[in-house]
Amino acid sequence: KLPILIDCDPGHDDAVMLMLAVGSGLFDIKAITTSAGNQTQEKTLNNALKLVTLMDVDIPVYKGSDKPLFRELIIADYVHGQMGMDGPTLPEPELKPGPLSAIEAMAKILTDSPEKITLVPTGPLTNIATFLLAYPHLKSKIERISLMGGGAFRGNITPTAEFNIYVDPEAASVVFNSGVPITMCGLDVTHKALVFQEDIELFRSIGNESGKVFADLMDFFSIFYRQELDGGAALHDPCAIAWLIDPAMFTTKSCYVDVEVSGTLTTGTTVVDFYDVLKQTPNVEFVYDIDRKKYIQLIYNAVRQLP
Ligand code: BDR
Ligand code: CA
Repeated sequence: KLPILIDCDPGHDDAVMLMLAVGSGLFDIKAITTSAGNQTQEKTLNNALKLVTLMDVDIPVYKGSDKPLFRELIIADYVHGQMGMDGPTLPEPELKPGPLSAIEAMAKILTDSPEKITLVPTGPLTNIATFLLAYPHLKSKIERISLMGGGAFRGNITPTAEFNIYVDPEAASVVFNSGVPITMCGLDVTHKALVFQEDIELFRSIGNESGKVFADLMDFFSIFYRQELDGGAALHDPCAIAWLIDPAMFTTKSCYVDVEVSGTLTTGTTVVDFYDVLKQTPNVEFVYDIDRKKYIQLIYNAVRQLP
């Protein structure tokens, strides 16, 4: 099993990402840490605890930073609702967050692990950046960072910036300049990773609680996307896990990527040198296309394995 550490801000698509990671049975999930993003830290933390309870797994959950490194927090309640994961009725959490902070937990897990660990961030990169700055010597224990964020040719919170990067651009800059190998699933691929109403009904018909939660989550999440993307909803975050499971499902290109932190129009934009204009050594495996049918099937198979 591939050892991973997940940092997320659930979040509807973060929830599905967790379902894929757990249900696939392919990962040794060392911990889940939570970022402030889709909603406040308090709410994303509580949502993560609820999901662990729903899936009935023994994965420790640790609380991350309350706000971005230098900026005020911006939330996406216009997508994810008042609680950050509106739609389904979920069980109240049966467990409490772990006694360490997210950063301390990351440090302990990486220090104790004999093997390298892959980090999977699917929210703003505040916790990951703080960790990299506080424990630079532990970089060598990170196998790779497979993240959802950014985009080369589109934005969703500004014309060029994607939400996770825009919320904490300075943190993203630290991560992209860290020297750790990065896989970036940005909007270029995630806006092709669509889930349609007919897919949602298939999940509902599985008959287990997780299938029902998936369907209720996607019903709510789809409202925001219904106007665009041919009626499908962009299932962003599970791409970061799916790439680790089956990279052949995706089309990628090695590129040099940096983050705009002080633009007048483009703050929070990932500047992807897709055509290698700068002749820099690539630091990112840039993911830009997907076999959508295989992706939905992979998630379906995982959700079937859950309670
Ligand atoms: C990203 O922002 C959040 O709303 C989603 O969970 C995803 O991680 C998409 O821009
Ligand atoms: Ca997210």
